[in-house]
Amino acid sequence: MAVILDGHVYADMALDSVAEKVKDLKKRGITPGLAVILVGEDPASQTYVRSKGRACDRVGIYSRTLILAADTTQAELEKQIDLLNRDERIDGILLQLPLPSHLDEQHALSCIAPEKDVDGFHALNAGRLMLSLDGVQPCTPKGILFMLKQAGIKIDGAHAVVVGRSNIVGKPAALMLMQENATITLCHSHTPDLKAQTLQADILVAAVGKPHLITEDMVKPGAAVVDVGINRVNGRLVGDVDFENVSKVAGYISPVPGGVGLMTVAMLMDNVVSLAETNHA
Ligand code: GUN
Repeated sequence: MAVILDGHVYADMALDSVAEKVKDLKKRGITPGLAVILVGEDPASQTYVRSKGRACDRVGIYSRTLILAADTTQAELEKQIDLLNRDERIDGILLQLPLPSHLDEQHALSCIAPEKDVDGFHALNAGRLMLSLDGVQPCTPKGILFMLKQAGIKIDGAHAVVVGRSNIVGKPAALMLMQENATITLCHSHTPDLKAQTLQADILVAAVGKPHLITEDMVKPGAAVVDVGINRVNGRLVGDVDFENVSKVAGYISPVPGGVGLMTVAMLMDNVVSLAETNHA
């Protein structure tokens, strides 16, 4: 049976360390601040936004949530972003994705001041990541690497297979694993024989959004399997990995819920503190 990569354990470790950093900043008269912008009423996004607010409360970060109507115009959204760019209490700005389909996501992200871009989704920060320069790293891949390292899973020299090529998870996860000296394979919907690829993985990251995409016959015995999927099936949350059966062959596996999702929020808190430290240096 696989060792469970318990998000509660690793997120708690990360959050305790963030809380210490917040305490130190407060001694210097600095309270880190996060603004979250939510456009529309998507229930899943509402849940995520609430969990971010709770995490801020736990570690002592000032937080503000801006809820905009589903029919908000591009101009109005970008005006609100600009106000937050100029707001001294705010160190990090998070635009909750996805946006309603009439809005241009990439353009809105490009309006966030790069030094307040807490997700690292601005083209400038994505470019810095690509060039292996210091900067804010996207929260979910950062959480995956934190978990792997804390669990003692060797990344250097491992073959990491990432399934999914999104800008939020797949692409940055592959870059960050490569930066840690893994050999990477990035698979996606046009990969002809997915199983042939996943069977090579010492570290397998599933970030597609398809329930039970990864089955036990696709996993090398002893591999570390990280499930980033969050899918609702008959009212229940499930990942992209068939947890019950894959956990019989994997060496490590992260559950859904209770895995990577918690890490994402913890790393968001860490990014807010990093931005506050940089911006007040
Ligand atoms: N939607 C799903 N994941 C994320 C994330 O990490 N950041 C933002 N802004 N939106 C998301």
